[in-house]
Amino acid sequence: MLNLGILISGRGSNMESILKSIKKKKIPINPAIVISNKHNAKGLKIAKKLGVKIEVVESKGFKGTRAEYDKEIVSILTKYRVTPKKGLVCLAGFMRIISPEFTKKYKNRIINIHPSLLPAFPGLDSQKQALEYGAKVSGCSVHFVDSGMDTGPIIIQAVVKINGKDTEETLSKKILKEEHRIYPEAVNLFARKKIKVSGRKTIIS
Ligand code: GRF
Repeated sequence: MLNLGILISGRGSNMESILKSIKKKKIPINPAIVISNKHNAKGLKIAKKLGVKIEVVESKGFKGTRAEYDKEIVSILTKYRVTPKKGLVCLAGFMRIISPEFTKKYKNRIINIHPSLLPAFPGLDSQKQALEYGAKVSGCSVHFVDSGMDTGPIIIQAVVKINGKDTEETLSKKILKEEHRIYPEAVNLFARKKIKVSGRKTIIS
């Protein structure tokens, strides 16, 4: 069975949806470790409550380069056997850019959830971007992480409709509901070795 490491920065609701699916035995993966870059991330309490080990590598005030910070993360992942061969890393609201050293080491082993239909609206405030653009639909994407900003091969996407009354808050809520559905689904596909990557594309069997 593969070992899962989840990286968070805050609320941790996507982390929770993944851990709960694992608990219900829907996903054959070992929830090895949750790591936060903030000691006060709400998700840490949730992980603890669900019986998953937690670690913090505080990013505020970290004296070193991005690559050195990521080295610390990798050493914790390694300690919990979340290795490039036997592991999967999920970014779940982890508000940091990952170094090329990290993405290269864990090629096609790090996945992320983004609250838009990529390649539209990458980066921050995607829901606001979609509203301001006047898009009629938006959604969320689970994708592999490469060295670009939200550019890796897409695994699953879900669509939500935008209506004239939507605010950033209502749209975020609608999208989050779909995030909680597709992120565990993507982890499950990975855990069952059903995802193949071919160039920019993923092939799901
Ligand atoms: C989600 O909207 C996710 O798409 C984005 O950051 C948010 C994290 O929320 N990457 P949570 O911490 O999982 O509740």
